[in-house]
Amino acid sequence: MTELARIGVTGLAVMGRNLARNLARHGHPVAVHNRSYGRTKELVEEFGHEGTFLPAETAEQFVASLERPRRLVIMVKAGGPTDAVIDEFAPLLEPGDMIVDGGNAHFADTRRREQALRERGLHFVGTGISGGEEGALHGPSIMPGGSAESYEALGPLLEDISAKVDGTPCCTHVGPDGAGHFVKMVHNGIEYADMQLIAEAYDLLRRGAGRQPAEIADIFRGWNEGRLGSYLIEITSEVLAHTDAATGKPFVDVVLDQAEQKGTGRWTVQIALDLGVPVSGIAEAVFARSLSGDADLRSAARGLPGPVPTGASDVLVDDVEQALYASKIVAYAQGFNQIQAGSAEYNWNIDAGAMATIWRGGCIIRAKFLDRIKAAYDGDPGLPSLLVDDHFQEAVRGAQDAWRRVVATATTMGIPVPGFSSALAYYDGLRAERLPAALVQGQRDFFGAHTYRRVDREGSFHVLWGGDRGEVTA
Ligand code: 6PG
Repeated sequence: MTELARIGVTGLAVMGRNLARNLARHGHPVAVHNRSYGRTKELVEEFGHEGTFLPAETAEQFVASLERPRRLVIMVKAGGPTDAVIDEFAPLLEPGDMIVDGGNAHFADTRRREQALRERGLHFVGTGISGGEEGALHGPSIMPGGSAESYEALGPLLEDISAKVDGTPCCTHVGPDGAGHFVKMVHNGIEYADMQLIAEAYDLLRRGAGRQPAEIADIFRGWNEGRLGSYLIEITSEVLAHTDAATGKPFVDVVLDQAEQKGTGRWTVQIALDLGVPVSGIAEAVFARSLSGDADLRSAARGLPGPVPTGASDVLVDDVEQALYASKIVAYAQGFNQIQAGSAEYNWNIDAGAMATIWRGGCIIRAKFLDRIKAAYDGDPGLPSLLVDDHFQEAVRGAQDAWRRVVATATTMGIPVPGFSSALAYYDGLRAERLPAALVQGQRDFFGAHTYRRVDREGSFHVLWGGDRGEVTA
């Protein structure tokens, strides 16, 4: 009898190809399929020696080469192409089989697909995979959603090929239906915020303190050894140290300053608005990219009056490190709150600490301090905010003078720091005894009789603003 594959991958662009190779390298016979057979052949010719690949020319052959229950991973573009592949394969599958979507799908699409396939007896496992092409090959962070039953059949395989930190796999069952893609979406949102904060730190050191990119690369290299240690800090120092071959200039100076985005950061903010979770750090990061990309608007506004950074300020490198760390804590606190809100809204029962655990390796936001986040949720799974955890409270207490100095100096110099300043505003908002929201409630009551509640009595009230201004119970 011919050997059957333990799992199959269809869609062999770079992510799919590397994931298939990763599976094969771990000793799992893997069926491979692509819309055009050329890619499948190429993969087997080039990497066939890495393990057992079962190339399939047609969808029928592909499905027939999988052991049961069939595990079929689709690695195609999110949106229409994913639906098209599901429509192609679902009729060929049998009850108990599972389709794993490893793309960056919107979790609402995943919920819809999961329900439709569940009604046909099939498992649909929306799975976040982070780490880019290198991660897919050498060990990504994997965030599978879907049924607990599907995880029993799939989990061991996915854990096997995921990154490991201290022997722990960076993969766990996130929760039912769209939970995996939701968490991957928030991961990307946090990724946006983290990148924006790092970019602001660079801008302050460059235009504020007058440091050159190569010097800043060294500063980041140093930071990477400390509490900021992370993949994004590490690659930032590499990017800053790089020289453009054509001009001999620092690479960062020849790149057009217009950041692009594929949409996962925007989704995170859109969903946060619906859930009522203030993810201001992520939102500012998305808006900063939008502002950078609006070339026409920027050219119309260039030359508006304001201070021009001279590069001669006394911005202290250590202050910037402190501001970056404190702002980063806020960004993650907000992201984790969004995960908790999503989990409550959709009954996913997501374990926040487990998410910190599987983000410690493989993914783009992997960072030393995720160990601390895990410890915080281990200590109190219902922690209302990372900012109230003892460790992070102490960290922010120690950093906040520098943080405030940095925001104040940046503002005076005319260097935009939307990430740093919104994080600080969020922090001050959270800890405030009284917020001016009381006045907003008064305004709402004045123009729309929207009513307000009082500090000293239960109930809703309204003032007869157009009359004798007496208070009535609403
Ligand atoms: C990952 C990344 C990945 C995506 C980047 C780029 O976790 O491996 O998040 O999914 O390629 O987020 O996204 P933008 O193009 O929107 O910056």
